[in-house]
Amino acid sequence: MIYKENDIVFGKVTGIQNYGAFVSFENGQIGLIHISEISDNFVKNIENYVKIGDTIRVKVLGVEEKNNYLKLSLKALDDRKRQKIKKPLSFNKPKRIKISNNEKDFEKLKINLNYWINKSLEEQNMIKLDYTNIIENINFEDYREQVKKINEMINNKTGAGNDFLGWTTWPKDFDKEELEKIIKCASFVRENFNILVVCGIGGSYLGARSTIEALRGLYPDDKLEIVFIGQTFSPLYISQVIKYLTGKKFAINVISKSGTTTETSISFRLVKDLLEKQIGKEEAKKAIFATTDKSKGALKTLCNNEGYETFILPDDIGGRYSVLTAVGLFPIACAGIDVKEMLHGAYDAMIKYDNDDIATNDCYRYAVMRNYFYHHNKSVELFVTYEPSLSNISEWLKQLFGESEGKNGKGLFPSSVTFSTDLHSLGQFIQEGSNIMFETIIKVENPLQDIEIPHDDLNLDGLNYLEGKTLSFVNEKAMEGTIKAHVEVGQVPNIVISLSKMDAYHIGGLFYFFMRACAMSSYLLDINPFNQPGVEVYKQNMFHLLGKKGY
Ligand code: PA5
Repeated sequence: MIYKENDIVFGKVTGIQNYGAFVSFENGQIGLIHISEISDNFVKNIENYVKIGDTIRVKVLGVEEKNNYLKLSLKALDDRKRQKIKKPLSFNKPKRIKISNNEKDFEKLKINLNYWINKSLEEQNMIKLDYTNIIENINFEDYREQVKKINEMINNKTGAGNDFLGWTTWPKDFDKEELEKIIKCASFVRENFNILVVCGIGGSYLGARSTIEALRGLYPDDKLEIVFIGQTFSPLYISQVIKYLTGKKFAINVISKSGTTTETSISFRLVKDLLEKQIGKEEAKKAIFATTDKSKGALKTLCNNEGYETFILPDDIGGRYSVLTAVGLFPIACAGIDVKEMLHGAYDAMIKYDNDDIATNDCYRYAVMRNYFYHHNKSVELFVTYEPSLSNISEWLKQLFGESEGKNGKGLFPSSVTFSTDLHSLGQFIQEGSNIMFETIIKVENPLQDIEIPHDDLNLDGLNYLEGKTLSFVNEKAMEGTIKAHVEVGQVPNIVISLSKMDAYHIGGLFYFFMRACAMSSYLLDINPFNQPGVEVYKQNMFHLLGKKGY
């Protein structure tokens, strides 16, 4: 039965956005309660009225003819009818009560409905998890209680490393003024410079680089070039960057939470020196932007002395969880990417994945699969992409999972490949070597650009059978063939995590998805996800060998 105008029906709240709540019905229809239809009172937070998972009664204000989408109202019901149903008693048999047609503002809703519905569908499907090729039959229900407990631990900040959980609510709690400053300074950089030099390492580098490359490609056609430094001691790399920058109009964003990381500090000293020689110390001050702790560290002292524009990395967010703070957002905004949309994607992911129901939360299902494989003879998670521009997302993932989980003799070793390139190198091992790994593919359904294979009269290369086909089609077939080979013959489980497209909104959601999955995954192993004690050992040795005072 298709619902129609004026019906009063039961539905389940499946999504909440700042503009309304989405409701799904047992007969397959979906609809939107626009925020203006929630209550007669001013509605600041929709979740004060309804929550995801609630079964509620709503009134149908109208039906979109083309697709039967419903425009819904909660406030059109009186209090008694509006009450949430504690037990979803008749979700299978929706009750209907006829009431008179007296709604207002219907036209406004009608105009906006398609937009809202399409946006909602996109948001609800932001990240798809396909585990049809994992070979094993995992009983997710076995993890129900543990997942519930850990989700509570994350939200109530009661687990190990609880001082570093600021990222969990950051998409709604971020500093709005700081964001405006980031956007303003980024416009200044785009208007006045040809290059932005981003100087940082680890969590102070990989989020920005991976986003910029994923959204602009590796050879972008943008007026501002982004150059990375500070992630190596390589004398060749650094000398070449310095030479490349010489005579060019560049700004610098130095990023370091501790403000004392040696790779970053040395590179910054060198590029700052070049900048000051080229444009003078005073002008250089206007071209240097620093992202660091609000009060401590050598970089903060330098900023105070020199008066550089400074962005803050909050105390309760660690490096590898900081991509959605100024650490990532300033260079990303300089690259012309809409950082508000990125936060919007992360916000939607936050709403969606803060959900302790293992039956419906894909983020935690992914974490559970990792845990299951870890306990069933797998020691390597291989992140796979089919786009070279996504290979730094794999680097970001390797740092996130490696530094978060690899402690106390535990954890999966995160590794990565870019296919089809690496099918001609590591593909052999994956197919027939030691069976120690599972693959996690990061798939983007629609590439940013595509190209058709042309006709060739002579066809000496034998490629005319692909004439007129796009490279995305070929890439897709390569992926399908590889999954089949690895799963069916190689017995390597494959998880596919896909985005419909690569844009600011989706990558924001993707980062949040993985950070939350990583926290869950680490806590499932009883590991503190937010420290990195092992990183210090090489530093101590290096400082000793370099003759640093006190080592
Ligand atoms: O995740 C982390 O905390 C680390 O990878 C750091 O981001 C990295 O070591 C860089 O540290 P800092 O920002 O203090 O220079």
